Amino acid sequence: MITKVLQIDESALSLSKKIIENGGVVAIPTETVYGLGANAFDNAAVEKIFEIKGRPNDNPLIVHVHKDYDISTLVEDIPDYAKLLAKAFLPGPLTMVYKSKGTVSSVVSCGLNTLAIRIPSHEGAQKFLKYVNLPIAAPSANVSKHVSPTTAEHVFTDLNGKIELILDGGKSQGGIESTVLDCTGVAPVVLRSGLITREMIAKVVGECGEYVYKDGMRAISPGLKYKHYSPNCRTVLFNSDEIGKAVNLYNEETSKGARAYILCDGEAARKINVANVLNLGDGENEIASNLYLKLREGEKIADIIIAVAPEKQDGVMVGVMNRLTKACR
Ligand code: TXA
Ligand code: MG
Repeated sequence: MITKVLQIDESALSLSKKIIENGGVVAIPTETVYGLGANAFDNAAVEKIFEIKGRPNDNPLIVHVHKDYDISTLVEDIPDYAKLLAKAFLPGPLTMVYKSKGTVSSVVSCGLNTLAIRIPSHEGAQKFLKYVNLPIAAPSANVSKHVSPTTAEHVFTDLNGKIELILDGGKSQGGIESTVLDCTGVAPVVLRSGLITREMIAKVVGECGEYVYKDGMRAISPGLKYKHYSPNCRTVLFNSDEIGKAVNLYNEETSKGARAYILCDGEAARKINVANVLNLGDGENEIASNLYLKLREGEKIADIIIAVAPEKQDGVMVGVMNRLTKACR
């Protein structure tokens, strides 16, 4: 199979609809990362997603819908705080977990009685979702455990020959996956941090919890327990106050003939004097936007990526650090 990469126009949308209606999968852009989508009502189609990605079958998928889709056909018991949050942040990079009505394929939630719903803000994603007018189950469009894709080219690298179509919507500006928020309790709880931060949520509804997964625990969001976001080369992570150690390792590796690269934010990049730097830029949103891009760039040219954590660790950086730590494990 040759994987087509198409700009999002009428003929691409019409082809994507045909593929989805025939039980196939299509890669789609979103404002966070690219997704690998299938009709959420179709068991076999959703199973294909797990197969293509090599994804563990107890890690549930997010269902994506367009902004006018009536989600009360999919989930129930939507609390008032969730309605406020939807008003404040949707469409956008916030996924909300509700009690499922069981109308989509049971494969989507891997047997859980909840369903994660996301309304992406990306214009191309909205066009696609509106065009097919179906709930689309979609994980990130990478091979399982690899770095998530933020360009059509990244998807092509991972899935060429395995899927029929990639809709090309340019670079995903957000750069890290959506915030996953449990909306089944009396107050919201962040299951996976992202661009919509716990502070932003608390500002709207007064309080917001955060779920911290520890090894060996039964995960309420199964995705938390898996290895993730890893580049295909060696990786090491240093704290922001260990720039000296990072540079020493860089010099050591370089003198052994290894191609070493330091991955860090603009602030650290200005402090060090080495030839090979993967600069994440400045400010939390820019750093998030560049994280996967630079990890993917790095794995193509480096034998080892030596990452230095940015100094700022709150807000969006909670999500960035979560990914960076897993990438460097
Ligand atoms: O930004 C995103 O969310 C991207 C784009 C494509 O929309 N999607 C994405 O999907 O990151 P994925 O499959 O890579 O991550 C889904 C996360 C996993 O951590 C999974 O465990 C969690 O959402 N999840 C899905 N359904 C859930 C549920 N019913 N309860 C708790 N967690 C759930
Ligand atoms: Mg993923």
